[in-house]
Amino acid sequence: MSLSGGQGKTTTAVLLGKYLSQAGRTVLAIDADPQSNLTTFLGHDLKSNDPTLLESIKGDVDLEDSIYPCTVDNLFLIPSDDGLDNVQDYLSGSGVGAILLKRRLIPAQESFDICLIDSPPQRSQICKSIIGAADYILIPCEATVKGFGSLVRTLDAVNELREIGASDAEVLGVIPFRDRWVGNNQTKESLLCVDEIKREVGESLILPSIRESERYKQAISQGKTLAELGCHDLEYPFEALFKRIGLLAGGNESE
Ligand SMILES: Nc1ncnc2c1ncn2[C@@H]1O[C@H](COP(=O)(O)OP(=O)(O)OP(=O)(O)O)[C@@H](O)[C@H]1O
Ligand SMILES: [Mg+2]
Repeated sequence: MSLSGGQGKTTTAVLLGKYLSQAGRTVLAIDADPQSNLTTFLGHDLKSNDPTLLESIKGDVDLEDSIYPCTVDNLFLIPSDDGLDNVQDYLSGSGVGAILLKRRLIPAQESFDICLIDSPPQRSQICKSIIGAADYILIPCEATVKGFGSLVRTLDAVNELREIGASDAEVLGVIPFRDRWVGNNQTKESLLCVDEIKREVGESLILPSIRESERYKQAISQGKTLAELGCHDLEYPFEALFKRIGLLAGGNESE
């Protein structure tokens, strides 16, 4: 989650989902953004009457009827389309918007090791429901002034729901996104912003940056992983995330 556009949420969700599933975890990826970029980037071809996250949240279908396999083994998707915008009124009218997604996802606990939810950029009812459902929140934020503002707003939104007891979510980490380097030198703006992020969240929560690179864009547009493009060296943010998730799940670092 990150409450501005273009912060790397969907990029992180797609690549982390593939990385985890290729490592043998059973992953459920959920597209909770009406822009439906996760659905597109995972190559899912949604037919007009197929159940999506909207129908699942409204309780019109069982959760399992909105889950589709992806082309990658162990990776499954609950897709969305722009109809998901209609869920906002439903969630606010339900009176239990912040806990509804968590409740709907209970059946998935048996079948999946990890559930990844890609959030929309606006502070909205669906964001509240995602924070209410999450055990951990991963915040990518661009290494720019705009990105830092987005991080602060996202932390505020999480804290607000924690304070009223509507969420137990902890921040898993913060990933600086599009960290710019020229040769061996980090640009001044990136350096200052990453320092500012560290000051805000503390050294322990900061994860290795996703560097500014055309390779990531290629991976997403071609439906490949960075390793499949021959760029193993760019996968280190996901290796670090994998270790952090493995430790939380009670494994050891090498898992
Ligand atoms: N390493 C990278 N370097 C440069 N650009 C990148 C990199 N990775 C992804 N991008 C591009 O950055 C843009 C924003 O990424 P992404 O869609 O993941 O952000 P988002 O937070 O999900 O945005 P939104 O809030 O609109 O859903 C995309 O156009 C993507 O192709
Ligand atoms: Mg997105």
